[in-house]
Amino acid sequence: MAILHGLTPAPVERCRVLEIACGDGANLIPMAYAIPDGEFVGFDLARMPIERGQERIRELGLKNVKLFQGDLLEVGAELGRFDYIVAHGVYAWVPEPVRDRLLGLCGELLVQDGIAFVSYNALPGSYLRVMMREMMLFGTKALDDPKERVAEGLHLLNFLKEARLQDDVYRGLLEMQLVKMEKRDPAITCHDEMTDAYHPVYFSDFVAHARRHGLQYLSDAELPAPPDPCYRSELQPALESAARGDDLRKEQLLDFLRMRMYRETLLCKTDRVVQRRFAAGHFRRLFFASRTTAVPSEAPGATAFLLPGGIRMESNHPGVTALLTCLGSAWPRALGFDELEPLVAQNGFVLDAGGAAFLIRLVIAKMIELHAWKAPVAHRVAERPKASAICRQEARAQRNATSLLHEVVSLEDPKVRALLILLDGTRDREELLAAMRAEFAGMASEEVEAGLDPALKLFQATGVLEA
Ligand SMILES: C[S@@+](CC[C@H](N)C(=O)[O-])C[C@H]1O[C@@H](n2cnc3c(N)ncnc32)[C@H](O)[C@@H]1O
Repeated sequence: MAILHGLTPAPVERCRVLEIACGDGANLIPMAYAIPDGEFVGFDLARMPIERGQERIRELGLKNVKLFQGDLLEVGAELGRFDYIVAHGVYAWVPEPVRDRLLGLCGELLVQDGIAFVSYNALPGSYLRVMMREMMLFGTKALDDPKERVAEGLHLLNFLKEARLQDDVYRGLLEMQLVKMEKRDPAITCHDEMTDAYHPVYFSDFVAHARRHGLQYLSDAELPAPPDPCYRSELQPALESAARGDDLRKEQLLDFLRMRMYRETLLCKTDRVVQRRFAAGHFRRLFFASRTTAVPSEAPGATAFLLPGGIRMESNHPGVTALLTCLGSAWPRALGFDELEPLVAQNGFVLDAGGAAFLIRLVIAKMIELHAWKAPVAHRVAERPKASAICRQEARAQRNATSLLHEVVSLEDPKVRALLILLDGTRDREELLAAMRAEFAGMASEEVEAGLDPALKLFQATGVLEA
């Protein structure tokens, strides 16, 4: 996002990153593994998660990541300066002095071109969450066990919902919140809705707070997804008139429209020039990737492109078809525009202002992704496939893993998990099969074999396998 907005952040390959309140380092440790020449520092007030993270780091033998137990009210310049600072799930859940120091640290410790990521519960949508939270807390004051509190709180909300008539607005609101909370891990509901400190903020107040620490709004971490009101042309005249030429005021008005509940905001120093229109040249500094698969279209001369979730786009522009087909077959690798240019130019796609606007539309539609670096992922399943040591370590302890693309991969199937643990680069297909047959001795041998290639392909496609 920083590159798109015309800034020059540090190259990912050699970045220095701080995570404030990093928990057990579940975010930081996979980044440190995937970016061996980067340097990563994290701290958290809670000792036990830090010790768990330190143990993981020791086991992995990583030298470029350090976790320590500390209070953000007590740390400062001794940590050095950082290219990127992350504070996820902290700002809106801690008391005012801690929130203030959090942004103070970002202002003090960021290098001149540095970027901070801060997530928070946003208003006005969080008023609805406050309402649910207060009812859940009221019903559960006497309980100590967090899981029990969450279960009781949800039970109360369900009772309220069921007591209302069908098609009732209040019932609908309760249902909307319940659907989200019931799908989540109770630990997350406990932290997000039921902790003591709960301070959702308006975007405009957050930005004003950041400004007091020498920071300005760059963008949010992701471009809004369709059908966000910012893309609806019929709303723009009224929005522009109410915004009176002020982009930040417009963003706040949009949050009113969105009934915004949560934000992941990027900040940079106030003296940086943030370009709100994405210039063509910025795309040359980025890498492109696409999860699409090209499929035949019924429209003459067109090709359809399908995303894993089922979203489909058709194009009859040869340049776009060439771009998406090439990226789709390169996935999960990302390619620089210089690698794509000969192919797309030959098919009539030019990266001028119009081309840049079109690329952004493809990004918003999730047909292409923009990356600031090339993750070290395998393009094919090697003879002796090697999964990242992070994934293998996580597979031993939990039911999901963090890929080299820094995405969560579900490992619910015990066979998939067992196979992943075996992928240390020493076994070929036959040896993998033998090991899996030994481990799942109760299963038909053909069934074990039938599952092998799809699972290996899945690991390759999700960026679990190393280049
Ligand atoms: C929801 S957790 C978020 C952890 C991690 N950032 C994540 O996204 O998984 C909030 C974290 O803030 C930490 N925290 C709260 N107050 C803190 C302080 N004053 N200094 C450092 N960490 C703090 C808590 O210990 C907790 O681990």
